[in-house]
Amino acid sequence: MVKFILPLHYNLNDNNIMETGLLHLHSALRWVIIIGMLITIIRAAIGYFQNKPYEKMDKMLALITMTAAQIQLVLGLLQYFMGRWYASDSAYWKVEHISTMIFGILLITLGYSFAKRTVNDRSKHLKILLYFVLAALVIISRMPWAERGWI
Ligand code: HEM
Repeated sequence: MVKFILPLHYNLNDNNIMETGLLHLHSALRWVIIIGMLITIIRAAIGYFQNKPYEKMDKMLALITMTAAQIQLVLGLLQYFMGRWYASDSAYWKVEHISTMIFGILLITLGYSFAKRTVNDRSKHLKILLYFVLAALVIISRMPWAERGWI
């Protein structure tokens, strides 16, 4: 009956197509975040230990990584509220994935913001280094590599 009332082009499974798209986007964006964190960490380590200036490029890399992480949060929340997590019974998706990833995104955001407010270039590198290493450990170690694979 519902199907009859709805316009012909409306497919009752549209929601699933959107959910699948969101999951793919969420899954692909992890690589932007992981690669972004790693490059930012390497540059911050070189900057700190070799006492190099905090360049525009350092700021850009940290900013791109933070923005990707915050978009990931929005995509994750959308999936969560669309009920995607019901797809699985495991406590991993209901509690662990969400809490650890939000913590990781928070660390990235704090690292970027603290570095921004710091005047000394070496301290900027150090703040990025510490917060991004912690975030990378949290995010990479709690990723569902085994359950969902690499892509
Ligand atoms: C840096 C942050 C994050 C990364 C790297 C990440 C990574 C992933 C990956 C790799 C998957 C599996 C994708 C697949 O099956 O192809 C996934 C699924 C999911 N993520 Fe995230 N995620 C992050 C943050 C979040 C946040 C903050 C939330 C919620 C607030 C969230 C909610 C979900 C949900 C609901 C699923 C689908 C679970 C299911 O299919 O049952 N994610 N995430």
